[in-house]
Amino acid sequence: MSQFDLFSQPENQFSSLDDVINALKHMKDDPLADAGTNVVISRGSPDAKLLIIGEAPGPEENIKGKPFVGRAGQMLDKVLQAANFDPEKDVYITNSVFRMPPGEDGKAFRKPTNEEIEYYRPYVFEIIRLIDPRIILLTGNVASQSVLRKTGITSLRGKWTELDGRWIMPIFHPSYLLRNPVRSPGSPKALMWEDIREVRKKYDELTK
Ligand code: URA
Repeated sequence: MSQFDLFSQPENQFSSLDDVINALKHMKDDPLADAGTNVVISRGSPDAKLLIIGEAPGPEENIKGKPFVGRAGQMLDKVLQAANFDPEKDVYITNSVFRMPPGEDGKAFRKPTNEEIEYYRPYVFEIIRLIDPRIILLTGNVASQSVLRKTGITSLRGKWTELDGRWIMPIFHPSYLLRNPVRSPGSPKALMWEDIREVRKKYDELTK
C-alpha cells in the first residue's frame, strides 16, 4: 500500500481533527523524525471555510510550534486582512510538511524533498477532509505538488480547480512577495492582491 492510500479506506481514517493532530504529534518514523525539529501543525479556526496550506515550518515556526508566525506569516496575514479575512477566525492554516527540513551549508532550513511531501500528503488530505473547507489556497509549489500533484506556480496561480465540492486555488508563497516587495502592475504583489480579491468573491458566493 502506498503512503497515498494510507487513509483512503473509511475504516483507516481518523475520526476527528484532534486524532490527526495527536497522530502527527507522536510521529516517530517520518522522514524528518531524525532531523530534531519540532512537529508544527496548524493555527486558526477549525470551523473555518477557508483552508490555507503552506510549505513547511521555518525556524520561527519550529520554535513557536505554529505555522506562519514569522515574516512570511505576517505577510500572509496582511494579504488575508486586505480581503477582510480575520486570520484567526475565518481561516485554518497548515502546511504540506510538518517538520522543518534542516538546512545544509550554514542554512537554517531547506525545501522539502519529494519523498517528504509524499510521506505527509495523506495527513494533509485527512486535515482537508476533517476541516471540510469550501476553499483551499495552496501557497507556492510545494503545496500545489502536495494537493494537486502539479508545480509551476507562475501559471497555476489564480486558477480554480474544483475537487469534491471544494474550490482550490494556488497562490504565490508569501515569502516570494517578501523577496519581490515592489508593487507595480503585473508584479507578484499586484497579482496576489488580484487573487485574494477573487478568493473573497468566491468565498462570499459559497458561504452566503
Ligand atoms: N512558510 C511556510 O510555508 N509555512 C510556514 O509555516 C512558515 C513559512
